[in-house]
Amino acid sequence: MQDFQGKTAVITGGASGIGLGMARAFAARGMHLVIGDLDKGAMQAAQAEFSAADVDIITMECDVSRLEAVQALADAAMERHGAVHVVCNNAGVGIPTSARKMKLEDWKWIIDVDLWGPIHGTHVFVPLLEASGGGHINATSSMAGLISGGMMGAYNVAKHGVVALMAVLERELRAKKSTVRASVLCPGPINTNISRNSVTYRPGQAKPSNDGNSEGKVAQNIQATLEQGMPPDEVGELVANAIRDEKFWILTHPHWAKAVQKQLDALVEDQTLTRA
Ligand SMILES: NC(=O)c1ccc[n+]([C@@H]2O[C@H](COP(=O)([O-])OP(=O)(O)OC[C@H]3O[C@@H](n4cnc5c(N)ncnc54)[C@H](O)[C@@H]3O)[C@@H](O)[C@H]2O)c1
Repeated sequence: MQDFQGKTAVITGGASGIGLGMARAFAARGMHLVIGDLDKGAMQAAQAEFSAADVDIITMECDVSRLEAVQALADAAMERHGAVHVVCNNAGVGIPTSARKMKLEDWKWIIDVDLWGPIHGTHVFVPLLEASGGGHINATSSMAGLISGGMMGAYNVAKHGVVALMAVLERELRAKKSTVRASVLCPGPINTNISRNSVTYRPGQAKPSNDGNSEGKVAQNIQATLEQGMPPDEVGELVANAIRDEKFWILTHPHWAKAVQKQLDALVEDQTLTRA
């Protein structure tokens, strides 16, 4: 997609972190913004920031795990602008948990938000993008969508699903010569509030256990790593440029692709799993 000026971008989880970085990058290219999120305070702050810069913005409470909420977000975008051109299914949550010990309630929550969110977004928005004359649909996966490290059970499962969803979608769109392109964002560590936000949204609001086993320590390590991570505004620029250049894979830390290669080498050579 070459021309962003005056077109409409829809971003879920767009009030914070990577989604807000995308919103800033799209606004800088002259786009109108439609943001769906759960965090009312963050949405108010985004509304104030972009309105002050004369950007046309709608913010709307939207739980991406609910199809009706994603449909309502699309309806609001179509009512305001009559078309949508870029859709980023970005909202996500993650807590470090053992695949063996994780509560089914946590599995369900993470799969509902991180995988069903992008499925709902694909279902609702691809026909609208096509009816709008073409555009681009992106979803935020993770390096955890390419390599299954330990202690992130449901997150790995959901993010692998997001990669598969966008890959099959892009193949189908190209095969039918659609004017819509798809891409997947696989970030490494980015300096956002995901750990804190995820603890807030977790069903029952239980904190990761700190019982001397691994979860509490892993949570602390992850938070420390994220704080050293890439600024989310840089990720927004990467995504906007990848959409312009019609790239499918968007990696924030491309050297990490070597770990993916290592995993594939082990599969081909002796069918073992590399340590991760
Ligand atoms: N931060 C990282 O290092 C990192 C790395 C890889 C992938 N990601 C992915 O990036 C995406 C954005 O995360 P972030 O790091 O910017 O975190 P963030 O918490 O700063 O932003 C995520 C936003 O999603 C919103 N949200 C959460 N649940 C929602 C729901 N059910 N419906 C709608 N909105 C919801 C939150 O309120 C928040 O505004 C996520 O999909 C995450 O898995 C992040």
